[in-house]
Amino acid sequence: MEKNKFSSRLGFVMAVAGSAVGLGNIWRFPYLAAKYGGGTFLVVYIALALTVGFTLLVSETAIGRLTGAPSPIKAYRQLNAGELKFGGYINALVPILILPYYSAIGGWVLKYFYEYLTGNHQNLVAPDYFSEFIASPIQPLLFLLVFTSICYLIITRGVKDGVEKMSLILMPILIVLAIFISGYTLTTPGAFEGVKYYLSIKPEYFTISTVVAALGQIFYSLSIGMGILITFGSYMDKKDNLEASIGQIEIMDTLIAFLAGMMIIPAVFAFSNGANVAAGPSLMFITLPQVFTSMAYGNIIGLVFFLLVFFAALTSAVSLYEANIAIVEEVFKTNRKKANHLLFGWTGGIGALVALGFNKLSFVSLAGMSILDILDFVTNSIFMPLGAICTVLLIVFVVKVDKIVAEVKISSKFRREKIYRFLVRYIAAPALIIIMISFILATFNIISI
Ligand code: PHE
Repeated sequence: MEKNKFSSRLGFVMAVAGSAVGLGNIWRFPYLAAKYGGGTFLVVYIALALTVGFTLLVSETAIGRLTGAPSPIKAYRQLNAGELKFGGYINALVPILILPYYSAIGGWVLKYFYEYLTGNHQNLVAPDYFSEFIASPIQPLLFLLVFTSICYLIITRGVKDGVEKMSLILMPILIVLAIFISGYTLTTPGAFEGVKYYLSIKPEYFTISTVVAALGQIFYSLSIGMGILITFGSYMDKKDNLEASIGQIEIMDTLIAFLAGMMIIPAVFAFSNGANVAAGPSLMFITLPQVFTSMAYGNIIGLVFFLLVFFAALTSAVSLYEANIAIVEEVFKTNRKKANHLLFGWTGGIGALVALGFNKLSFVSLAGMSILDILDFVTNSIFMPLGAICTVLLIVFVVKVDKIVAEVKISSKFRREKIYRFLVRYIAAPALIIIMISFILATFNIISI
């Protein structure tokens, strides 16, 4: 058994699910669901995940397994991408740019977990605690260093004993924790109104904005368009059922997003009488600690919640790290060990710049965005859709859909073959172009989604 392959299908499924389930599920999904009419958003999201999301997951994984090339650069080259060759580089650039800022946020999560663990969580509810913490000079750097060191150590152990083992242990725990917290928050008085809002389908919310928001969330949440699935697909055994694995990954990612909505929307409803759930960092680092304080046993729930978020962030960061290892090995013609050192320096260094973007480097900004927001914008709104478009074009015009279908069929029947062929040919690229344009326009406040 090779050290740098997954040892089992379950290992592959858990590792990719670990990549998919992350901060996006916990701080972005509930916010979007609350904004776009609860049940309506859920239905649109699930429908799109099973179609467009499925198509891209299968495409990227099949490319990885077909070529056996862990880095998208190599995979594109092996498939004679010709003019699309730059797509391999775009797919490679995304995880390189995301890893440092994702790790900086991972450090914030670790800090909050630490505060709950040491019983100092009452400090977290002070009105400016979060903004003062991220703007402080030392602590964010320290927690970034701890977070990155944990990733580094896991990567040192290789794919099977590091990435796979971590996911096999942490993912089941994560699911249990999510069920526990969402079950508990449902018992909060007043939570029922939130549940009703979250689950009821409101026809007036079936709009283009809802579809665009759901599509964008699917790409981010399933870690599509950044070569990660090419890397993990290349570690997959030809015997392992590809279609079933992808189905299970979709179920897990959607389940955790659903449960995150279940734990957050009713709790915030009960806490603030139906006020809007805020997006992003302010939800997780400002609103939720306040909500937990108002609950019985809130200190325990807070502790468990931040542990869950930490696991989710860690498994995603490790998947980014692993994808980057393949890329650095390829570009610098080096070995895994040296690539790991380089990436540790890169993540620490650029992550530190991100952290200092709220302190000494706060003068660096673009259209009002901090360094973190700039990196997030460039990766998620431009490179990620572009990378995915290149992969779709590569399949349709160069590799040919037949070859991808044949790769899937090596390990099983392809039950969703017809719909896959249709979607990859006619729907995936236009959907991606719509997301890209909408996100760019939304960032510059020309439209709102
Ligand atoms: N899919 C992750 C989430 O939902 C985000 C992520 C993006 C993780 C890119 C790794 C790489 O949070």
